[in-house]
Amino acid sequence: MTSQTLREARTYEEASEKFIKKEERPDFHLSTRTGWLNDPNGFSYYNGEYHLFYQYHPYDSHWGPMHWGHAVSKDLLHWEYLPAALAPDEFYDRDGCFSGSAIELPDGRHLLMYTGVIKERQKNGGFCEVQTQCMAVGDGRDYEKYENNPVLDENDLPEGSSRFDFRDPKMWRKEDGTYCCVIGSRPADGSGQILLYTSEDGFHWSFKKILATNNNRFGKMWECPDFFKLDGKGVLLTSPQDMLPQGFEYHNGNGTLCLIGDYDEETDTFTEEHNQSIDYGIDFYATQTILTPDGRRVMIAWMQNWDTCGGHVQDNLWFGQMTLPRELFIKNGRLYQKPIRELEDMRSGKVEYKDVHVIDTIHLEGIKGRKVDIELSIAPEDDQDVYHKFSIRFAQNAQYQTSVSFRPKESVLKIDRKFSGSRRAVIHQRRSKVHHENGRLKLRLILDLYSVEIFVNDGEQTMTATMFTDREADGISFCADGAARMDVVKYDLV
Ligand code: FRU
Repeated sequence: MTSQTLREARTYEEASEKFIKKEERPDFHLSTRTGWLNDPNGFSYYNGEYHLFYQYHPYDSHWGPMHWGHAVSKDLLHWEYLPAALAPDEFYDRDGCFSGSAIELPDGRHLLMYTGVIKERQKNGGFCEVQTQCMAVGDGRDYEKYENNPVLDENDLPEGSSRFDFRDPKMWRKEDGTYCCVIGSRPADGSGQILLYTSEDGFHWSFKKILATNNNRFGKMWECPDFFKLDGKGVLLTSPQDMLPQGFEYHNGNGTLCLIGDYDEETDTFTEEHNQSIDYGIDFYATQTILTPDGRRVMIAWMQNWDTCGGHVQDNLWFGQMTLPRELFIKNGRLYQKPIRELEDMRSGKVEYKDVHVIDTIHLEGIKGRKVDIELSIAPEDDQDVYHKFSIRFAQNAQYQTSVSFRPKESVLKIDRKFSGSRRAVIHQRRSKVHHENGRLKLRLILDLYSVEIFVNDGEQTMTATMFTDREADGISFCADGAARMDVVKYDLV
C-alpha cells in the first residue's frame, strides 16, 4: 500500500517537473526530477533496465527529509523518471530514507536496503539521528517496506560503534547464493570503519567482521562504502568526511577514497596495498557501482560536493546531477576510469586535426559546443624547449570561460571555473599531479551542458566539475605559453 506521504511526493513531482525546461537540465547526465538530489542509490540491473535511485528532496532545491527518487535507462545515458520509490513514512525512517542499494532476488523481486533515520532528543535538548538498516521489496515500480524493519540496529554493531553513524548499506549476492553487505560506521576513535554483514536470504542479516578501519588516517566517518573484486584485487570505495589534504591527494574536505588490496574470500580478509582519491576535481562524492550483465564494473557518483553546494543558483527548481557512469579497471596497482562505452554511440560530427602548432591562442574551425567529447594529445614543439603551459578553454564567450591547464615543469593539471558564471565564493579551482613524459599528455574532456569530466592519460586520473554557465557560451580554444603541438578529435554528443 502506498502511504499518503509517498502519494503526495508523487503528485508533487509530477506537477513540479513541468516547470523545469528541458534545456535547463544536463542532457545525458541524470539530474533530479525536481527539487534536490544527492547520492546515487540502488544502482542495479533489473527486468532488462538499469535502475538508479537517488537521495531526493522533491519539495525544495535544498537537502531535506530524504525520499528515494527513481529513474530507469537502457543505456545508462538516457534516463526516464519513474515515481518516487520511498518516502519517510514509517516509525523507523520518519526522518529520512538515507542511502542504500538494490539487488534482484532469485524469485524475481527487486530488493532495496537503505538506512532509516529517526531524530532522538538528547539530554542537552539537541537532536541526534539514530540510524538503522531497513529493507523494501518491489517490482521495479512500487516498493513495500519489510514488516520486520529495521533489520539491523545498534544491537548489531561491534562494541564502541556509534548508533548515530551507521549508514549506507551496499549489498551484493555471492556466487553461492548468500548475501553480503558493507555499511559505514563510526568506531570509538571517532573516525570511520567499514562493517561486513552476511545473510542467507537477503532479509536476516548478521554481523561478520570489520572489513576495514580508518584509524583516523583518511578523514573521519566513512560514508557510502562499496566493495568488489576487480582484476584480481579487492577494491573498497568510500567517501570520507572531514579529510585532511595529503600532498595532491584528498583536497575535497568531503572526499573520496579508493583502497586497493588483497582480498581473501575464505576469511573475508582485506589487506590494503594502495590508497588514492577516486576523482581529483571539485564536484564528486558518494560513489556506487554495479556489475553490468556483460561483466563490467561501472561506477556513478553524485556530481557535487557538500562543500560546494553553496554555488547553487537560487532560482533553479532543481539541484543535483550524477556523473557519467564510468567503467573501472586496475592498472599498475591504480584505479582507472573510462566513460562507459555506450557514450560512443552518441558521437557524431567528427572534426579532427593532426599536428596542430599551438603558440598563443588558437580557435579551430568546427571545434566548439557544450555537448562534446574531445580527445587531445599534447606534446612540446621542441623536446629541448618544453612549453610552460598549455590550456584548453571551453564554455567560452566574451564573458565566460572554464579552463584546464597543464604546466609540465610542475606536472600539475588545473581546472579553473572561476569565470564560469558563479556568483558565489565557493571553491572554483583544483590542481592535480599527473604523469607525463617531457610534456606529452593525453586528455579526454566530456562536456554536458553544466559539467566537465576530464579523463587524464586514458583514465589514470579524472577531474570532475559542474559549471552553471549560460548555455550560449560554447566556444573552445587552445593556448600555449611556449610552443606546443597537438592532435585533437572532437565529436558532438547527440
Ligand atoms: C552522503 C550522505 C550519506 C547519507 C545521505 C543522506 O552524501 O551523507 O551518508 O546516507 O548522504 O542524504
